Amino acid sequence: MELLELIKRRYSCRSYKSKSVENERLDYIMECVRYAPSAVNKQPWMFRIISSEEDRKKISQCYNREWFATAPVVIIASILHDEEWVRSDGKHHGDIDIAIAVEHLCLAATEQGLGTCWVCNFDAELCKKSFGLGENEEAAVLIPVGYPADDLKEKKRKAIEEIVK
Ligand SMILES: Cc1cc2nc3c(=O)[nH]c(=O)nc-3n(C[C@H](O)[C@H](O)[C@H](O)COP(=O)(O)O)c2cc1C
Repeated sequence: MELLELIKRRYSCRSYKSKSVENERLDYIMECVRYAPSAVNKQPWMFRIISSEEDRKKISQCYNREWFATAPVVIIASILHDEEWVRSDGKHHGDIDIAIAVEHLCLAATEQGLGTCWVCNFDAELCKKSFGLGENEEAAVLIPVGYPADDLKEKKRKAIEEIVK
């Protein structure tokens, strides 16, 4: 599949089938994540794969939406703040790094026929407590993963003339 086609095929999936996700597919996705670039190659991240019933209940409490609870797998993408690159003017780069890695994840999942959704509007403190994240570890994004039970939505995007000068 051409990259542009894959990019257009990824969408925010907000309904999942109960069918579980094969470990081989998850391994492939995480291998794509592993090769993501990061500032000064610090790779300041940690990914927790949540799939047990008990853990899925806990993660659902961090983002209380009916559709979110339908995902058979949720990946917690965390920034390790003690490992991220900080520029001489004080700008931290963990946010940029984690965003690249998460989009690798979403595109790889799309290629594997799986749906995903970026979720940042969750209770990060509760997530940290519930899953025993380290002191310098920030849960930045939750990514539900599963076989889609909905369809690709229309892509509303700015025109190219609006974003390129
Ligand atoms: C950084 C970021 C945070 C997001 N947080 C949420 C979220 O908390 N809940 C949600 O339903 N969608 C969330 N989204 C999904 C966006 O709403 C979605 O990507 C956007 O509307 C474009 O639609 P598309 O992903 O289907 O192309 C987030 C996306 C990004 C990139």
